[in-house]
Amino acid sequence: MKHPSTAPKHGLAAGDAGRPERADWTIDQGWERYTQEEHAVWRFLFERQSRLVPGRACREFEEGMRDLPIGADQIPDFRRLSDVLSRRTGWQVVAVPGLVPDDVFFEHLANRRFPAGQFIRRADQLDYLEEPDVFHDVFGHVPMLMNPILADFVQAYGEGGLRAQRMGVLPNLARVYWYTVEFGLVQQTEGLRIYGSGIISSYAESLFALADPSPNRVRFELERVMRTRYRIDDFQETYFVLHDLEELLELARVDFAPVYERVRQQSELEPGILLPGDDIMTRGTGVYHAARAEGN
Ligand SMILES: [Fe+2]
Repeated sequence: MKHPSTAPKHGLAAGDAGRPERADWTIDQGWERYTQEEHAVWRFLFERQSRLVPGRACREFEEGMRDLPIGADQIPDFRRLSDVLSRRTGWQVVAVPGLVPDDVFFEHLANRRFPAGQFIRRADQLDYLEEPDVFHDVFGHVPMLMNPILADFVQAYGEGGLRAQRMGVLPNLARVYWYTVEFGLVQQTEGLRIYGSGIISSYAESLFALADPSPNRVRFELERVMRTRYRIDDFQETYFVLHDLEELLELARVDFAPVYERVRQQSELEPGILLPGDDIMTRGTGVYHAARAEGN
């Protein structure tokens, strides 16, 4: 199974070949042109994933989903999503053909536009994604963008991304996005919950991230995360856990320049490694990835 690619791959995978007519890479969603088969893929994914949400997704995800025009019947119309979303947090959903270059991606986020893949995966590839499609982007990301904290954080990430590119430290910043917006867990009073879009839009990873004994679950710490590589083609070996989504607000206010400087002087970390200073919630068995490595 492959996982939705996000920011770090946008530029690498997109290339110039797929460049659309508009400079910002947006296209019309063309909602009227989705076929019954495509709506049926959405329905399958929506129903399967919705069964997993209660007791696994964070409160904010459920609240966002409840108030959005997203249902099982059809692929959501971005115009209707944007109407509701913009009234709540000032965000819009815009359609793109797939991966877009990093600078285009950041420019959209910095202006509260979420670029969502227009296409949907094929019926024979339900768990296989090379690029983020409309299910990952809409089901995974849009409910969280209804939350003011996530809304501010993702905008700040877009602004920070443009700066990080100029400073040559984009890989460090991209890891923050990866281990929060895409693959973040949060400790809530009810228990450990998912807020990361890459997890909550994936059936298998929703189960793996919360309950499997294999991965590590470690308290989020900014510099630690910035040093930690990640898996783009498989489940994560380590998940980083926030005490509270409010931590993201503090993170959005941090002056990253001195942090980059400190991180630059330290070694990079492999995804599954644990450090003496880590606040470890689960010391993973590593069984899953060990078996995968043997199989290769
Ligand atoms: Fe994503």
